[in-house]
Amino acid sequence: MTPLLRQVLSQVGGADPRINEVVTALITHLHAFVEEVRPTEEEWTAGLGFLIETGRMCTPERDEFVLLSDMLGLTSAVDDVNHEGPEGMTPSSVQGPFHSPAPARELGDWISHGPERDRAVPAVVHGRVTDCDGVPLAGAKVELWQASDAGLYDSQDEAQEPGNLRGLFTADADGRYWFRTIRPSSYPVPTDGTAGRLLHAIGRHPMRPAHLHYRVTAPGHRPLTTHVFLAGDPYLGSDAAFAVKEELIREARPRTGGWGMDGPYEEIEFDVRLVPLRPPPGVPPSARQP
Ligand SMILES: [Fe+2]
Repeated sequence: MTPLLRQVLSQVGGADPRINEVVTALITHLHAFVEEVRPTEEEWTAGLGFLIETGRMCTPERDEFVLLSDMLGLTSAVDDVNHEGPEGMTPSSVQGPFHSPAPARELGDWISHGPERDRAVPAVVHGRVTDCDGVPLAGAKVELWQASDAGLYDSQDEAQEPGNLRGLFTADADGRYWFRTIRPSSYPVPTDGTAGRLLHAIGRHPMRPAHLHYRVTAPGHRPLTTHVFLAGDPYLGSDAAFAVKEELIREARPRTGGWGMDGPYEEIEFDVRLVPLRPPPGVPPSARQP
């Protein structure tokens, strides 16, 4: 430890021990970074300017810092350390920037009501929500949001009404859910800001593999935010947000007939296994919330 670092750390001593711990680690790592990289003063000023510009780009509709965190794999790293659990649980994955409350829909409803419905490959998505032992969670809430075949969410696309390609479903008595939609496409994250400039500078593409976003909740169980990715997508191995997990990849199988569909379509099956919440200390298992 350098004398300078020792002096800086000696000044950390606030009332909140967790803040002291976090700030001490942050200062220590940043000083190590400077020791290792030995930036010129021009480089350091340019780095600070990059962060200042990132902050200035942030609005209620767009958060460039979140995008930067996603692009550096940090959002996924934080997700990983916060959502460990038993074998068999469905892994979590980052929420991403395009969530907004979905309209409630009936099982089997279409969530695609825009012009994409005439262009894209139709799809039926279904599955079952259970706990990690396979016990069905009747009445679980399954919230979905996805991009169109053009890779755009409703909030990015004037051709889509708000709420298009979104839906909030209630699983039936057997934990089953299903809905009809279109096949999502891979899409680029916004590249007109500092995060995009960084991707370009380090020779990375901005693409995310085709996916559906899920948020699943059931009383007495840990809420789950995750993705389902489509097998065969060329960007599965290089997701710009580093959100892909092997267990979340599903085949979109070509089908004809069934599920109330007229012509050919693709079937995507995705079962969700939620982790039971631990009862508070001193509460016997039988007193758990159902
Ligand atoms: Fe997305």
